[in-house]
Amino acid sequence: MAKVTKIGVLTSGGDAPGMNAAIRAVVRTAIYYKCEAYGIYGGYQGLINDDIHQMTTSHVSNIMQRGGTILKTARSAEFKTPEGRKKAYENLKKHGIDALVVIGGDGSFTGARIFSQEFDIPTVGVPGTIDNDMFGTDHTIGYDTAVNTAMEAIDKIKDTASAHNRLFFIEVMGRDAGFIALRTAIATGAEAVLVPEFDVETEDLVKKIARDYDPTKSSGIVIVAEGAKCGGAYGIAQKVKELHPEYEVRCSVLGYQQRGGRPTQADRVLASQLGVAAVDALLDDQKSIMIGMANREIVQIPFNKVVLKRKGLDEYRLKMIDILAL
Ligand code: F6P
Repeated sequence: MAKVTKIGVLTSGGDAPGMNAAIRAVVRTAIYYKCEAYGIYGGYQGLINDDIHQMTTSHVSNIMQRGGTILKTARSAEFKTPEGRKKAYENLKKHGIDALVVIGGDGSFTGARIFSQEFDIPTVGVPGTIDNDMFGTDHTIGYDTAVNTAMEAIDKIKDTASAHNRLFFIEVMGRDAGFIALRTAIATGAEAVLVPEFDVETEDLVKKIARDYDPTKSSGIVIVAEGAKCGGAYGIAQKVKELHPEYEVRCSVLGYQQRGGRPTQADRVLASQLGVAAVDALLDDQKSIMIGMANREIVQIPFNKVVLKRKGLDEYRLKMIDILAL
């Protein structure tokens, strides 16, 4: 494989706190090893539109503590077409870029996998999504911050739940995965959690709530992942209210605040480690892999596995919610 000399970096899919720390790490590590670094603005669409600019160390100064992504992000329909990917490749060639780092989630790596099969551009992925639903890495960049944001919001809601003896259904992000919901539920001492991976009958949930939401308890909190099959927080709240009109039920949807804000130290450090390791891997002739962190060790997982395998939710932790809600 020819020696890597010019490394492009882009962010793709939903933004996640810590992406900026990853960009900084990629750019500075590339420059440290005497390579040129290029920022591609607006994800794969930016590659197609030739929105590509050389970056110096100062372009990534003072960005570590900011949420979002200085490179912007997008979901590109055009990159899903062979014509779009060909344009992207031609633009990379035009700039002499000979390697790529993609910071994003599952969908972004599906694109990267196809692209690196079609063209001779070694590509390495860095997992960035608040959802944490990526095979091969214990945590994704942004997950820790999102859970902390949700936890802080729920701590506040619990004051009202407790003051009024109310039952709250709180919806957190997670269209296809319940990682945010489950961890947040443990961290906030919730009575129950509803996730997309497992269906719960309303009757069963009601039994559980009836057990927990009794006069000896001052409040009840149920965490609902947005993709849970019960119809989100409002859907399940309505069903429960029909069965128990005496409950004082309220809903709160936390929404996009979970995607933004200052990354936690855990996300900054994770992003920095993965960014450095991504460039190291490219200089070590690796390609078509995602860099992850498993059991506190840097790991390299082939794109094939990352996109074809599904990370399962820890069922023991689900059971913990039941045990700890007594
Ligand atoms: O970043 C992941 C995620 O937060 C999902 O949990 C959510 O369903 C989705 O993004 C929504 O993102 P968008 O509105 O950008 O499509």
